[in-house]
Amino acid sequence: MLEPEDGVLVFSPYFPTYPANIARRGARMVLSSLRAARAFRPDLDDVRRFLDEDPSPKGIFLNSPHNPTGGVTTEDDLRGLADLIRGRDVAVFSDEPYDCMVWGGRHQSLLAQPGMLDQAVAAYTFSKSFSMSGWRLGYAVSSPQTVKVFDLLTNTALSCVPSFTQLAGAAALQHGREYRDGRMQEFHRKVMLLVAGLNTVDGVSCLTPGGTFYVFPSVAAICNRNAITSHGLAMYLLEGADDTLGVACLGGECFGEAGGGFLRLSCAQPDDRLTAAVSFLADATTRRDRIAAYLGTHPEYRLAIPYDVAIS
Ligand SMILES: Cc1ncc(COP(=O)(O)O)c(C=O)c1O
Repeated sequence: MLEPEDGVLVFSPYFPTYPANIARRGARMVLSSLRAARAFRPDLDDVRRFLDEDPSPKGIFLNSPHNPTGGVTTEDDLRGLADLIRGRDVAVFSDEPYDCMVWGGRHQSLLAQPGMLDQAVAAYTFSKSFSMSGWRLGYAVSSPQTVKVFDLLTNTALSCVPSFTQLAGAAALQHGREYRDGRMQEFHRKVMLLVAGLNTVDGVSCLTPGGTFYVFPSVAAICNRNAITSHGLAMYLLEGADDTLGVACLGGECFGEAGGGFLRLSCAQPDDRLTAAVSFLADATTRRDRIAAYLGTHPEYRLAIPYDVAIS
């Protein structure tokens, strides 16, 4: 769907494999920032601008529910997007691995909008819904014409998904839905637990995500106060704050520059560990001497320009 120099709109922050997949076709990534003030929903004005002004607008990468922000693109947003691209030579890759983790209402796919089956490919995975990340099993939905191309690619590149993996996937779909739905509700409860905990920490401000098992708190105030990048803060929490304990999370900039000033934490842990992580974070972020000492040995994490706290 892409030729060298074609433009592809990507909402930032983004899943880190997107740039390489676009680059390997020689295409150009064009970024549109997702903002906390819009609950991390795509800005359709940016889409319009991309379609009108890019010399060769050919692709859009959409991801909802969104990793890392937890933002969910609403049905209205999807209708607006479909109206903008319908009938144009623009394809959408709609990455929907968290389709079973929507915390209010039900999952909406761009494919449900008129005409979009011909212009979009939606991708799903067993990794999240059935906790089968090691099994490498997923599926895509698109028009018969596009799926035929996948047939050819799969046949020549992989032959097929191993047969026992296919059987496991079929068993999950046939017998695992009730269990899956229970697990998803558990994730929702954990998300709420983590958000509530984080919002009690000085300098942390966390939106309730519309989906996914991630939370994406702004830590811009803490970073600015200590002149440390958000990924520097994540690394400090992992290896600098304590000699024996650490909390593993990622700086938002691991998902593109627009993620700077945020942390991404996953809820896929027992409740007591989530609670312990919040207490650890609350204590560790007040220890300015320890942060300064960590920065002394890791100057690459020094924050040159303070984050804009207003956008967080
Ligand atoms: C947005 C997004 N796309 C794709 C993937 C990859 O999923 P899979 O485990 O099926 O490779 C992930 C996994 O974290 C993801 O968050």
